[in-house]
Amino acid sequence: MYRMIQLESLIPETLPGVALFIKHGENHVLYKDPKLSFTQSDKERLLDNNVKHLFVKAAEMSTYNQYVEANLPLLLGDDSIEPELKQTMLYQASVNYVQEIFDSPAIAIRQNVDRCRNLIKHILNDVMGSDGVMPALSSLVDHNAYTYVHSVQVATYSISLHIREFDLGKDELMDVGMGSLFHDYGKVYVPKELLDKPGKLSASEFMEVKKHPVYGYSTLKDLEIFTPVALGIVKHHHEKENGSGYPDGLSSYDIARSSKITAIADVFSALTTNRSYRQALTKEKALEIMYGEMDGSFDLQYLNTFRDSLQ
Ligand SMILES: [Fe+2]
Ligand SMILES: [Fe+2]
Repeated sequence: MYRMIQLESLIPETLPGVALFIKHGENHVLYKDPKLSFTQSDKERLLDNNVKHLFVKAAEMSTYNQYVEANLPLLLGDDSIEPELKQTMLYQASVNYVQEIFDSPAIAIRQNVDRCRNLIKHILNDVMGSDGVMPALSSLVDHNAYTYVHSVQVATYSISLHIREFDLGKDELMDVGMGSLFHDYGKVYVPKELLDKPGKLSASEFMEVKKHPVYGYSTLKDLEIFTPVALGIVKHHHEKENGSGYPDGLSSYDIARSSKITAIADVFSALTTNRSYRQALTKEKALEIMYGEMDGSFDLQYLNTFRDSLQ
């Protein structure tokens, strides 16, 4: 198993010992032995040949991820790198991180909480510095499994909508970022066949899927690093204004604003992403559904603000 990485994410002479591969047709061919260093002229040669992506073995992604995260401030501050590419690297690093964390035992979250906060801090800065919804988000979709990309999208939309609606300090935004990044964490305890099932779920299968907010909430609560706001998002992102949501069937005034906002981010991300059972919808079509058939699900004021932010 190989994972694609951006050539621009590699700073010559600093890469730790990971093997790099390039793709020839269907095959991955060793480009750099882990014992050799990756030099400036290596990078220039690849750029001259229009190579934008390299590949790393899945087992070495953790080393690569930590390397990119450590170098993010440097990469994001590098004026010679295109802004859009920087965004892609940031969101890609976040997706890689989520994948690593979701695939590890829950305790790894506690051990890596600084990495997580760091990534959210960068996302916050990026969202604050841009006026529209990040174009880089949509470019991630084709190369990564759904849940990881979805988590980063929901965190980004949710942070962005909170900033538009409220005057929040960085600490509160950080809580929102943590909660929305991990909102679907409980899905690691739901059988994968159910999550990817193309057809309609049976009543009992749907019951099983509907447990994920509570699974996520109780697992993350036990780690004692998430605040009540973040945990509330995890537990209540499927509640609906009209009380028909789950797990607690809360309605309107009983749902925290951060959960209402994350619910909008969640559904919009899900509808606008390719799934095994249907093509991604356009943002217009997604909004049509959210205002139409899903009428009664969302807080209308927040939904209106979200719609306006997408124009
Ligand atoms: Fe969910
Ligand atoms: Fe979700």
